[in-house]
Amino acid sequence: MEKNKTKLRSEEWFGQDDKMGFVHRSWLRNQGHPDHMFRGKPVIGICNTWSDLTPCNAHLRDFAGIVKRGVYEAGGFPLEFPVMSLGETIMKPTTMLWRNLVSMDVEESIRANPLDGIVLLTGCDKTTPSTIMGACSVGLPTIVVPGGPMLNGKWRGRDVGSGTLTWQLEEEMKAGAITPEDLREAESCMSRSAGHCMTMGTASSMASTVEALGLALPGASSIPAVDSRKKVMAHLSGNRIVEMVKEDLKISDILTRKAFENAIMVNSAIGGSTNVMIHLTAIAGRLGVELNIDDFDEIGSHMPLLVNLMPAGEYLMEDLFYAGGLPAVIRELRRHIHNDAITVNGKSIGENCENAPCYNREVIASIDAPFKEEAGIAVLKGNLCENGAVIKPSATDGRLLQHTGRAVVFESIEDYHERIDDPALEIDETSVMVLKGVGPVGYPGMPEVGNMGLPEKLIKKGIKDMVRISDARMSGTAYGTVVLHISPESAIGGNLALVRNGDLIELDVKGRKLTLHVSEEELAERRKQWAPPTPVADRGYVHLYINHVEQADQGCDLGFLKGGSGHQVSREPH
Ligand code: FES
Repeated sequence: MEKNKTKLRSEEWFGQDDKMGFVHRSWLRNQGHPDHMFRGKPVIGICNTWSDLTPCNAHLRDFAGIVKRGVYEAGGFPLEFPVMSLGETIMKPTTMLWRNLVSMDVEESIRANPLDGIVLLTGCDKTTPSTIMGACSVGLPTIVVPGGPMLNGKWRGRDVGSGTLTWQLEEEMKAGAITPEDLREAESCMSRSAGHCMTMGTASSMASTVEALGLALPGASSIPAVDSRKKVMAHLSGNRIVEMVKEDLKISDILTRKAFENAIMVNSAIGGSTNVMIHLTAIAGRLGVELNIDDFDEIGSHMPLLVNLMPAGEYLMEDLFYAGGLPAVIRELRRHIHNDAITVNGKSIGENCENAPCYNREVIASIDAPFKEEAGIAVLKGNLCENGAVIKPSATDGRLLQHTGRAVVFESIEDYHERIDDPALEIDETSVMVLKGVGPVGYPGMPEVGNMGLPEKLIKKGIKDMVRISDARMSGTAYGTVVLHISPESAIGGNLALVRNGDLIELDVKGRKLTLHVSEEELAERRKQWAPPTPVADRGYVHLYINHVEQADQGCDLGFLKGGSGHQVSREPH
């Protein structure tokens, strides 16, 4: 199904019999590429987020070689290039600060080089959306190879999930139930193979989202990183991208509004991360596809929970793979999704999944007997979040979804750490914990601190959950009655900045409301006394970031990066 036979983009570099053709070819020949590689073969850029400092992507160095095999086999010419990699558990203050920087790196690296098609090797949380955003702003044929989850964590006879165990251990430490030695032992038991977090955290949610968008081969997202079938998938992706170039099947042909709606529905059905909302909105913004925060509630919140994975459930990604993987989930959703949305293999998502079997109903429920009826992310509005805030009801036990309590305010994350375990702190289980200064501008970078740990004195009383609200994000591996992404954030003067200790706050998830019960007059008075915080940087990328980052409901992209600039480059360097 070749759409056209127009000249390859790479021929602008390699197809000329003149000085610049010589220059473009000659230096590349130092790697031993024979002459026929420069004669009309689709050049495939393998964009690699491998790094020793990104543990979840450390295996991708080898995967590039496997993709290359597939590209050569299909008649293409593979060239791998590195981009900045974001290691979620290593980088400070938060990888989200650099998601947009990576997208710029990817965009400019693709456009400036002689590439006809792109393979994105991704894994850890931000490495997926950042690379896709960059690729969207260029618009070439693109396929994603998700790096795959780690094998199930195994500790003292039980399965333990990345991240989710971390939050549990933190509480057990506070309660005095485990020792520092226990903690050290648990570390290598949780992370025992290559791959990204194997809970349904942000990495697994984004990988599943990519497959639901149609950007990865069917079944690719759930295969564990160390399973030989993951290598097969990388090889086949190398094959396929060459064909996509010949068919001129561009990323914008796949990422339509229908594809985004499918991704929203699938993210609900898998109990996926709230971070997906921000990333999908940013990706859509690069393509000019209309997508707003209310779409996530309207399209996703009534979807049933079909996947029983931590943190919402009991199992892990390896179990999802053995149960049939994402195609089995998508098949269950066939009455809801747009089955005709096209995917990277040239077939529709409906065709790809129509015969996908389910092997374990404890892991993947049938649509007629879901684990929960309404599992998607709820979008809240009110005077505390005029542009929206979000909560993931499936990550709670439901008891606090309708709750009114007095605010206990922390002005910053440092303030929180300093006072949370102070025995004199006036707080009980009915209080609403409020954290300010952790939004995109305020932190900066909107870290995953929204699921503030509870005070030690309440944990010791057996309290497991409280209402927490902030302008932060939350790790997809976390749980609790946590309201996130409050927009506008406190640092730019959202009403969150005006909350004081003792104010009454009402959470009404059913009614989609978050209300600060303080009069308009009183708020106006407090606003007169409020001053914005001093900017944290007056130079460099952080300065650029805080001056241009958009709010959470708009995807946290830098405003000037929205849209794309295509792939054309008309001028030569010499
Ligand atoms: Fe990399 Fe969780 S830390 S995916």
